[in-house]
Amino acid sequence: MSAALAMSHRVGALADARQPARESRHDGRLYTRRMTIVEPTWTPGSWRSFPAGQQPEWADAAALAAVGQRLRELPPLVFAGEARALLAALGEVCEGRAFVLQAGDCVESFREVSAPGIREKLKVMLQMSAVLTYGATLPVVKVGRIAGQFAKPRSSPTELVDGVELPSFRGHIVHDDDATLEARTPDPARLLQGYYQSASTLNLLRAFTKGGFADLTHVHTWNREFVASSPAGQRYEALAGEIERALRFMEAIGIDLGRERTLHEVDIWTSHEGLLLEYEEALTRTDSLTGQPYDCSAHMLWIGDRTRELEGAHVEFFSGVWNPIGVKLGPSASPEQAVALAERLNPARVPGRLTLIARMGAERVRELLPPLLEAVRAAEIPVVWVCDPMHANMVRTTSGRKTRHFGTIMEELHGFFAAHREVGTWPGGVHLEFTGEEVTECLGGAEEIVEAQLPSRYETLCDPRLNGRQALDVAFRVAELMRAL
Ligand code: PEP
Ligand code: CO
Repeated sequence: MSAALAMSHRVGALADARQPARESRHDGRLYTRRMTIVEPTWTPGSWRSFPAGQQPEWADAAALAAVGQRLRELPPLVFAGEARALLAALGEVCEGRAFVLQAGDCVESFREVSAPGIREKLKVMLQMSAVLTYGATLPVVKVGRIAGQFAKPRSSPTELVDGVELPSFRGHIVHDDDATLEARTPDPARLLQGYYQSASTLNLLRAFTKGGFADLTHVHTWNREFVASSPAGQRYEALAGEIERALRFMEAIGIDLGRERTLHEVDIWTSHEGLLLEYEEALTRTDSLTGQPYDCSAHMLWIGDRTRELEGAHVEFFSGVWNPIGVKLGPSASPEQAVALAERLNPARVPGRLTLIARMGAERVRELLPPLLEAVRAAEIPVVWVCDPMHANMVRTTSGRKTRHFGTIMEELHGFFAAHREVGTWPGGVHLEFTGEEVTECLGGAEEIVEAQLPSRYETLCDPRLNGRQALDVAFRVAELMRAL
């Protein structure tokens, strides 16, 4: 059944007259259990009547409106049918038949966009997903934080740069990162630049993933090279060897690895935090096939931990588009809030529609996560549970640099798997910040990066990212955890 049909089926199920009459909201409309439309309220712009956190103070309203108009006229970046295909794939994760890897940059840069940068990220993502697929013996849905991950929420409106207080950096789609007041002034023309950079990044991703770069035998060779050169190589050797034998087995029974489409083409879906609602609204289109609104800036969008208020503009906006949606849940999220968000964002109970991305911190995940898992399960709202072991594990070095420790990241992942084991729910996937480059931003990993090495390649514009090798270390260790499921 296609995702669209699955969705209409689910909505149709609400019409069952045996169900108790109850109201629910979806696509901005209020439905009773008998599907009477009570009050159509959602439009792509209805978020404007709700409080919107973390929006830049655009100085020139006329320039902003003109950019919005231009974006409305430009072609969508993704097709609604693709968002539905991702919804169906995430529906499989929801049912425990697949796993999701959502990963990529903390924030993409306007300055450092290049083919090698995109290629290296994709390469690591493919390597990680090959390892995870084999570890779980399940399909891995690959979702990049890429081709649109440009806007950052910040805890404080200002930050100190070399002793000078400046507006906090909110991403290149808003302003420049130089340490001057002028650079930090929001410029609406950057929304257009973000659109065009997303288009060119997505174009190259599509070319690589369908044009032969993603061939599993290449990916496996890269993994062999990684294992051979890693100090943790012995630990990873067994798994890499098994993958090799599986490939040889397929060849031996006559499968032509070169001609098997599934072995050399993959789907990489795009995602970003849907933070700037002016931009997301302007890229919302009515799907010509279903008549439903889709935010065509990416396949999947997520709502950040700082903008997930139930009565806030972000939840209002994303309640009405039909893409798969994520919500980050930090340590302050209560079980009641998680259920209310799930009810508001997935009233039709479509598997794959909603992904809850828990980022509780290594210390508290075992205590905080089980009550959320239990409450959402008791409410009978299908969700995909994903672990983001990055965002609640930030520490500062003695010199004041933001970093994360590989060991702490793994500890949160262990806690996430343990919580699901305890409650009996499915640990659906992981959400990571990494780059393909050999940066030195996070501590530890098989190569044991130490504090004194951080300055050598500390290049992030915002949060510290795993480098390519650390990201692969995580993948091999998560594969071990999945094997134990
Ligand atoms: C992020 O994913 O980069 C981010 C800011 O996350 P969170 O909303 O979880 O803090
Ligand atoms: Co981040």
